[in-house]
Amino acid sequence: MKRKHIVGNWKMNGSAVVIDDVLDQLLKQTLPADVSVCVPSPYLQRAGERLAGSSLRLGAQNVSEHGDGAYTGEVSARMLRDVGCHLAIIGHSERRRYFAETDESVMNKLARLLEVGLFGVVCVGETLAERDGGRAEAKIESQLAQLHTLMARGATPKRFCVAYEPIWAIGTGRAASLEQIAQMHEFIKRCLGASYAVLYGGSVKAVNAADILALSAVDGVLVGGASLDAKEFGEICRAAS
Ligand code: PGA
Repeated sequence: MKRKHIVGNWKMNGSAVVIDDVLDQLLKQTLPADVSVCVPSPYLQRAGERLAGSSLRLGAQNVSEHGDGAYTGEVSARMLRDVGCHLAIIGHSERRRYFAETDESVMNKLARLLEVGLFGVVCVGETLAERDGGRAEAKIESQLAQLHTLMARGATPKRFCVAYEPIWAIGTGRAASLEQIAQMHEFIKRCLGASYAVLYGGSVKAVNAADILALSAVDGVLVGGASLDAKEFGEICRAAS
């Protein structure tokens, strides 16, 4: 069986003390999966130094769609690589909602990551109104459409994966049902190709992780709130085996 990917998304939480503590606790555990932690950008360098030589991978939560230059406040893909990142989350629904990210900017960001050899975790997901209106698949298909341009230019399954995160399941304690997850993951694999990994995100906790990860179309999980608790995150990682 392929190893599953477990990605923690700490969002805009934590402090130097908290981050050191969570990473130290994670480093003491045996984690039978490919595990990454996406920390807030001011702490990337610090986290990278702590994780050096370990199997835990460092990730960012965003990247600029521009290359280095006069873009005040932005962080380029090259800079992320420089401080030890392996991957970056892009197009998270919070960034689409609060920072006006579009499918086009997500594609540009993925292109920047690929240019410097970083892995992209591209988030997609529908609102509750879209699901209730029977438009969930159409929404996801439209969010994936731009990726085909990059796939034609060599963005293979080794370069990026998709995280299916229904917006109504994020931070609500109400994860999608196993049936909804399986259906959408199979749909995404039909859109992109079966070898592209698809992670599920949205209220993944230690109590539901094993059932979600046991689904054959689920290649891993993207964990928000529960990833800042090293004990719970460790349990989620062990549920992958
Ligand atoms: P959650 O967040 O696990 O807290 O629901 C997931 C995410 O936003 O990536």
